[in-house]
Amino acid sequence: MKASQLLRKKIADREVTVGVVGLGYVGLPLVREFCNSGVRVIGFDIDQQKVRMLKAGQTYIEHLPGPFFQGLIRKRQFSPTADMKELSRPDAILICVPTPLDKMRQPDMSYIRNTTADIAARLRRGQLIILESTTYPGTTREVVKPMLDATGLRLDRDYFLAFSPEREDPGRSDITTRQIPKVVGGASPTSGRLAAALYGLALERIVPVSSCEVAEACKIVENVYRSINIALVNELKMLFDRMGIDVWEVIEAAKTKPFGYQPFYPGPGLGGHCIPIDPLYLSWKARQYGRPTRFIELAAEINTFMPEYVITRLMEALNESGKSLKGSRVLVLGLAYKKDVDDVRESPSVTLIELLQQRGAKVDYHDPHIPVAKPMREHNITYMKSQPLTPASLRKYDCVLIATDHSRVDYEMVCRNATLVVDTRNATRHVKRPTGRIVRA
Ligand SMILES: NC(=O)c1ccc[n+]([C@@H]2O[C@H](COP(=O)([O-])OP(=O)(O)OC[C@H]3O[C@@H](n4cnc5c(N)ncnc54)[C@H](O)[C@@H]3O)[C@@H](O)[C@H]2O)c1
Repeated sequence: MKASQLLRKKIADREVTVGVVGLGYVGLPLVREFCNSGVRVIGFDIDQQKVRMLKAGQTYIEHLPGPFFQGLIRKRQFSPTADMKELSRPDAILICVPTPLDKMRQPDMSYIRNTTADIAARLRRGQLIILESTTYPGTTREVVKPMLDATGLRLDRDYFLAFSPEREDPGRSDITTRQIPKVVGGASPTSGRLAAALYGLALERIVPVSSCEVAEACKIVENVYRSINIALVNELKMLFDRMGIDVWEVIEAAKTKPFGYQPFYPGPGLGGHCIPIDPLYLSWKARQYGRPTRFIELAAEINTFMPEYVITRLMEALNESGKSLKGSRVLVLGLAYKKDVDDVRESPSVTLIELLQQRGAKVDYHDPHIPVAKPMREHNITYMKSQPLTPASLRKYDCVLIATDHSRVDYEMVCRNATLVVDTRNATRHVKRPTGRIVRA
């Protein structure tokens, strides 16, 4: 029997074993969905600590509860491991490793290359490899495929290759991973069909596209669209601030239009693993074709400037009370890059803390999801701990800077006890009786 027929039968009979490489924000929800569909999953991560925690019934991601995964491990449906030799076992391998930028702000492909090298070292006939990590169009065919071909095995005859972008939105409870439509594009039509059949076991809606390049470009377009629209409202916010118009009220009014407008919200700068990074993967690739990506560059410029803008607004607000930033005590409210998650990657809060410290402020933070600051790639504030948020503690600060609008924070209480609140998220919109001043920034 041909390798493709064998794999198709295994998928149809739900006898396929799925491997997920990279057990992070993207990999773990995929493990959950495939296990829920009754399929056996082997999870791979080079971080031994993560594997140990999963086995002990814990996770390192707040919204993904450890006991659930431990239950799957007990039923032998899920086996997490740091042993890459096991990569020969799964019939299908989903690659969910990081795709950050390097020091020169260019794509850092080392994680994809390392994982592909691990897979290639054990590649066997009949395996389907699917890249899920967000990356520039061309990666699957230009980076992954040559490494797999070097084993002597051939695409379609021996192995299969596809790209399917992850569209996870951590912390979101109204739409589950299972409900998010899954775009799938193969490095060959057979690969695309097999990958679509595989995801069809676990997810509700599959969107097949004609190639892996289309699937790669689709994900980047989604993130470029967000980055540009956020930059647009950020720019409008700065203008409307000057004009004395509340940008948040404008957006609330504009979004009542039933067509032709989708609301995006301003903030203190971009954060997370996706929006500040992924568009730059495309700009980098565009250079090979001699085409500029002016929208992407302009959006990045505006969004990167936002923390500076917020600090200027904060300094002006302190100044009105006769205070300088130097020597002032500032509480940054929210360390995570977005509400109700514990993810600090690229969080603008960290940039805000550093800018405040550079200008001589004494800075603390409070985040109900992050008791101790986590290590980050380019920043080190691991010496900081979340400070209590009480009426007495709030009165110690000259300014409270709301950087993340976590739902668990009582903003009424904050505004009743803080002398000055600088709000970058409109978190105080429902506050009735503030004691001090509230400044939107
Ligand atoms: N987090 C999101 O919201 C999100 C959404 C959509 C897409 N993505 C994309 O998905 C990819 C993964 O992101 P994430 O947020 O899950 O990252 P993450 O850092 O949470 O998880 C990645 C995991 O991969 C592991 N890893 C690194 N190198 C490895 C290797 N060689 N072998 C095995 N494991 C390895 C790390 O230890 C880590 O646990 C990225 O390309 C990202 O852009 C992320």
